[in-house]
Amino acid sequence: MSTDRAAFIAANTVVQSTALLPEIGLHLASEAMPIWQMTDEEREAAGLPLPYWAFAWAGGQALARYLLDHREVVAGKRVLDVGAGSGLEAIAAAMAGAESVTAADTDPFAITAIEMNARLNQVAMATRQDDVIDQPGDWHLVMVGDLFFEHPLAQRLEAWLRSLRQGGAEILIGDPQRTYLPRQGLEKLATYAVPTTSALEDSDLRNASVWRMLND
Ligand SMILES: C[S@@+](CC[C@H](N)C(=O)[O-])C[C@H]1O[C@@H](n2cnc3c(N)ncnc32)[C@H](O)[C@@H]1O
Repeated sequence: MSTDRAAFIAANTVVQSTALLPEIGLHLASEAMPIWQMTDEEREAAGLPLPYWAFAWAGGQALARYLLDHREVVAGKRVLDVGAGSGLEAIAAAMAGAESVTAADTDPFAITAIEMNARLNQVAMATRQDDVIDQPGDWHLVMVGDLFFEHPLAQRLEAWLRSLRQGGAEILIGDPQRTYLPRQGLEKLATYAVPTTSALEDSDLRNASVWRMLND
């Protein structure tokens, strides 16, 4: 684990739980962190990507809640969490009895945050920082929490998820109706009212659903 990044995360977050997930402690920003409000140029000069890992996004919270309440969905499975951020749904999968959990995120700060949060919750998981999208794998279950917010990423992600689904993997998506969530080929499993911060979202409460990808 990078000690510089771990020190940055510890200095800029507080260990806390969300109302929907009292079982899970996470290093989270209390208020929108100063680096969230920097301009792109300021952040790039400081070498800091946007700190998505410092928040428990509505889609990820819904997915994590669903896994903790439906352990049979994940128990004994090899699980990949794509765009894991803080690692909240990966932690929920490990708590729910997954055989193995891999948390993937392209942001090195997210990788360090996931490792710190996994340790905090006393669960084991692997992490990977490479861009896992488009790569083959033998996962039983691939999870996506709140990743359909940007068009090129969403297009790549959907095509890859559909090919994994055709290959037999289960795909679960937690999402509060972001703009690029696929409109077809998903079955809604559950919806949760997720308290959020108006510093990040346009309201203090968002409905987020858990979706299962269907075969074509
Ligand atoms: C909105 S956050 C969601 C985090 C977490 N799943 C949640 O729901 O709280 C999106 C995350 O996806 C990551 N990400 C973006 N593109 C990615 C890619 N190609 N592969 C893996 N992670 C990616 C970002 O670094 C960020 O941590």
